[in-house]
Amino acid sequence: MSEIDDIKSRLDVVEIVSEKVRLQRAGRNYKANCPFHNEKTPSFIVDPGRQSWRCFGSCGIGGDVFSFVMKTENMEFSDALRMLAHRTGVELRGYKKNESRDSYFEINKIALDFYKDSLMTDEAIVARNYLKSRGVNQQSIEDFDLGYSPRVRDSLKSHLLFHEVDLEKAVECGLINRLDDGNTRDFFWGRLMFPIFDRSGRPAGFGARSLDDSMPKYINTSATTVFDKRNTLYGFHKAREAIRDADLGVIVEGYMDVIAAHEYGYKNVVASMGTALTAEQVRQLKNLAKTFVLALDQDAAGQEATLRSLESAWQIFGDSSRRSQDPLFAGNPTKINVVSLPEGKDPDDFIRTHGSEWEKVVRNALPLMEYLIPVVSDRFDINSPGGKGRVVESLSPIFRLLDPFDTEKYVGMLAEQLSATSETVNAALKQVPRRPGSQNTSIDVKPEFENSNQVENTYKLDEYTLSLMLNRPELREVAIQIDPECFIRTEDREIYLKWLEFDSDESLFDALDVVLKERFSNIQKYSIVPSTNTDILIDFNSCANRLERRRLQQYRSDLIQSQDIESPPSISLQSELGNLDKKILETYTSDS
Ligand code: CTP
Ligand code: MN
Repeated sequence: MSEIDDIKSRLDVVEIVSEKVRLQRAGRNYKANCPFHNEKTPSFIVDPGRQSWRCFGSCGIGGDVFSFVMKTENMEFSDALRMLAHRTGVELRGYKKNESRDSYFEINKIALDFYKDSLMTDEAIVARNYLKSRGVNQQSIEDFDLGYSPRVRDSLKSHLLFHEVDLEKAVECGLINRLDDGNTRDFFWGRLMFPIFDRSGRPAGFGARSLDDSMPKYINTSATTVFDKRNTLYGFHKAREAIRDADLGVIVEGYMDVIAAHEYGYKNVVASMGTALTAEQVRQLKNLAKTFVLALDQDAAGQEATLRSLESAWQIFGDSSRRSQDPLFAGNPTKINVVSLPEGKDPDDFIRTHGSEWEKVVRNALPLMEYLIPVVSDRFDINSPGGKGRVVESLSPIFRLLDPFDTEKYVGMLAEQLSATSETVNAALKQVPRRPGSQNTSIDVKPEFENSNQVENTYKLDEYTLSLMLNRPELREVAIQIDPECFIRTEDREIYLKWLEFDSDESLFDALDVVLKERFSNIQKYSIVPSTNTDILIDFNSCANRLERRRLQQYRSDLIQSQDIESPPSISLQSELGNLDKKILETYTSDS
């Protein structure tokens, strides 16, 4: 996630706007008199779903939190960025470090060292024996900074006080608990400690395993400013290079699985730490390799939660149909394969007993669909009434993401599994209602970028267009006609606006905010298919048309949304929609 996305995810446009204007609820949205022009009837709409705002009155402008702050505070992008970063506590790389976040890592490091030292004490013999019994060697203990939290009441607290750590901050790190009576107490005690590092290798939190049968088996740091299990992968900073080198990443569930794999030299392994794979975790991985292998818990494989996480993983990993249908996004979509281990073993047991067999297992992992069809079919009694329908229903979300060829192939496979014909399976798939949330409810076709899982792909058009204009000065004449609002991402819009101001790339680069420089360089590097100048012009025109079409469609859908649902569409609305439709149509006809 970019810093800008991070900031946006922590802000609510409704909250920010309502600091400036009085908002009234209007269906799913909020309405107000437009703060940017004088009006008596409210035509300014804030959409919490898309986190956007727009005036449908005479000024007709719209945007996101950033552009709202820039307009109302009369700020440059850089200043708005800094202000919002400060407000949300997001650390901006390249700026002065955020001291408070830094100190969290420092405190975690002090705790990590303390737990490590404690592993050598007499009391920790249980922990050392336990590690031995699990086959973990000394090298792994050091590589993963394993430790032990003493049972002695408040031993960490005393240690932190000795190091003059502000206890309040240690509470904020999740290392110390504040009790109802105001007293503080160590959160972890008597457990084997697994430090969890962030992507840059800073200690962000801890996992802790009980050494007897006490429950829960594992506890971990609760969410803090620097730690959120849902966007963290255990072992990521150690695995990143290996995943790149192998062009293959393996995702397991537990700490012990990662440790065993790395100990045996399989360093391309990370763990989701027991949770179903989250979208955020997938985002961190997807650009590292072409293939990912999931080592799924057998029992979990057919379950709804797992299916959903696979569905979102698949969407983000980019196997989605949009991508394969559109030559712009074609290329090499990520493959997700699934390993099934024998006898319900987890990777830790397997690697420690079978060693190099692991490579074979990973290599023979089945494509997700091939794995799921029999697993899900086994979950239901397919001979009972409605049984087959339930299998189809469970698999349907993932079927929706397949391209037509794969659909045909897997419909065939599922048909065989269910002893049915492909026609029947297809008909059954069509009958499955979409889940709420993915439903097309409005009169309008849902704009393609409303579904956040598809956002990544949508950006590709923006990226590609920008990269063309940055690399081909001859496109300037056409490019300056693009409406800045065509670019979805805040940073892309800013880069475009700055590009309009400057003639040379060098002075443009200098003028960009640090945060934008990175994006700029990435876009500039975006590989462009070599072609003759005429082709490039045609290609660029078609990009510009698509951007414009997308903007108009979004505007149209916003406009409909902004209407009072109770009253019939007014004449002026109808004529405005007519105009928009005409313009949308033009973006097709002017495509050559
Ligand atoms: N986990 C967790 N909190 C829990 C349970 C599980 O954080 N209450 C995470 C841990 O990262 C754990 C992983 O989920 O490593 C898998 O959990 P589980 O299968 O229960 O444990 P194992 O890794 O098999 O644990 P062990 O081998 O140590 O028994
Ligand atoms: Mn295990």
